[in-house]
Amino acid sequence: MKTLKEAYKDYFDIGATVNVGSYKSFGNLIAEQFDSITCENEMKYGFVCNTKDEYDFSRADELYNFALDNGLKIRGHNFVWHQCTPVDHLDTFSPEKLWERIKEHIKLVSDRYQKVSCWDVINEAADDKNGLFLRDTVWHRKFGDDYYMKIYALARELVPENIQLVYNDYNEYIPEKREKMLRIVNDLKAEGLIDAVGFQSHITIPKYFSLDEYKRTFEEFSKTGLRIHITELDIALPPINTKKTFSDVTAEEREAWAKLYGNVFAVFREYAELIDSVTFWGVSDDTSWLNNAFDGHGRDALLFDRDHQPNEAYFRVTEF
Ligand code: XIL
Repeated sequence: MKTLKEAYKDYFDIGATVNVGSYKSFGNLIAEQFDSITCENEMKYGFVCNTKDEYDFSRADELYNFALDNGLKIRGHNFVWHQCTPVDHLDTFSPEKLWERIKEHIKLVSDRYQKVSCWDVINEAADDKNGLFLRDTVWHRKFGDDYYMKIYALARELVPENIQLVYNDYNEYIPEKREKMLRIVNDLKAEGLIDAVGFQSHITIPKYFSLDEYKRTFEEFSKTGLRIHITELDIALPPINTKKTFSDVTAEEREAWAKLYGNVFAVFREYAELIDSVTFWGVSDDTSWLNNAFDGHGRDALLFDRDHQPNEAYFRVTEF
């Protein structure tokens, strides 16, 4: 049996999200299968900094050291997001004070983790609603409509040159959302403030996903000249808009799901020259965020099952 990283060694790095629980229970599997990790939460603003603006890096350090000790790359995720952030606290700041705060934050975190391969500088800035460009966030409210330009300029100044700056977002295969993401990255690219774009690639409701639109996304972004990272891949089984749990899934539904995984990787191979890394949002189904996110109805989504064994989708992905 080929490991994921062996199967894709001539294409791109294979990564997975790890958390302080999962690396302890199956660290060997992670080191054996993957080239790279991302901290699921541990480097996020609200996980390293509290509402007294005090820092605790112990959990992020643990995962950073796990990566370095095992020769794994590690993606930096993330500096600025509207979730996992003490928004109510930051909303009490004046724009000037918030600017000093985020400047200090980026400097502190970036100086500490100088061996990350990249930073997702802003996560999910584009709004999902039709007709609205940028999401209403504390950063947008305080720094204005060009806030993303300002924050990436700051990151460019503070982050070592060899570390890629990334813009990361989801639903990149939905045309309206893709246009907004393109607008953001083209603005940043024009000023030399960005190196790569992150396609989260959460396929939580497969009927909103199409391989053709996904390919179009690669085509459109290839024109920007930026590198592409697949940052948070998972395919929900059953989809998140049903009340079913993973134990209600029929054999046909499972088969279609595994096949979709295979087809998605065929797209990655087709566009491999543009892609640096493909990262799964988790390793095994028992630890996937989709068990609890949205409605808490337990679902499968990854290539390793609840006993940490490779499932049928694993073989669709590694045998081609
Ligand atoms: C999720 C984590 O998996 C959860 O544990 C946490 O409660 C919320 O964040 N998009 C992202 C990730 O960029 O950081 C999110 O991770 C999933 C969606």
